[in-house]
Amino acid sequence: MSAILEVTNLTKSFGGLAAVKNVSFSVQRGEIVGILGPNGAGKTTLFNLLTGFMMADQGRVVFDGRPLVKAAPYRVVNLGLARTFQLCRPFVGMTALENVMVACFSPRGMASGQPPEARSRKLLDDVGLGHKADMPSELLSYGDQRRLEIARALATDPKLLLLDEPFAGLGSSEIEPLSALIRKLHREHGLTLLIIEHKLREFMQLVQSVIAIDFGEVIASGTPEEIVRHPKVIDAYIGKTEVELGIA
Ligand SMILES: Nc1ncnc2c1ncn2[C@@H]1O[C@H](COP(=O)(O)OP(=O)(O)O)[C@@H](O)[C@H]1O
Ligand SMILES: [Mg+2]
Repeated sequence: MSAILEVTNLTKSFGGLAAVKNVSFSVQRGEIVGILGPNGAGKTTLFNLLTGFMMADQGRVVFDGRPLVKAAPYRVVNLGLARTFQLCRPFVGMTALENVMVACFSPRGMASGQPPEARSRKLLDDVGLGHKADMPSELLSYGDQRRLEIARALATDPKLLLLDEPFAGLGSSEIEPLSALIRKLHREHGLTLLIIEHKLREFMQLVQSVIAIDFGEVIASGTPEEIVRHPKVIDAYIGKTEVELGIA
């Protein structure tokens, strides 16, 4: 295995608040890695820094052997790093199919050589939305909008896909199927995945390794089993029951 992503001393402050502080970690090719941390820990800011939505104050990001220095979001996508957002924002006024087609017209999407419409239908099938291809995207349920966002990201043919709290706002019956979908995509698309979550349950069965952050800093990293027992992680989650922590 070799690292697809290497993050070194990444730092970003908003005024006096250090949202991301000296964060360093690496992600190996083919892994499913979790970023775990309570609300406000700096997880989304970290994704914003990795994907060019925000500029870091300090630090270095190397993706697939290339430094991402002040790379705009579209350039990051063109290098093979795609993301979803904590709050889904489908292109309203467009069908599910049209949403995915937009991303199929990206340079990496076109490089697949397949016609955008056929490729979009296949991607919607892959995420379980084949039968809803012609629905206006804003009429999809929240869970389906999550799947649509994943299909749209896959259309850019990513090597590394970042998912920001893919389980947030889903009903308990929707969580396991989405987990199964993520596992299937990992297998079939040869993806490396970096997934943000703020709760430990379910998530710990999905990811192979975890980077725990709190107040913008990495407080622990290791296997899910190591993380749930780590004293600093337990501290960060004080007030949660052991069931929520996934260690009961
Ligand atoms: N654009 C911004 N301007 C000012 N403060 C921000 C901005 N984005 C995030 N923050 C602050 O940075 C901290 C980390 O936020 P965020 O990365 O969204 O956390 P998480 O995703 O872990 O919940 C929070 O205190 C948040 O209020
Ligand atoms: Mg967030």
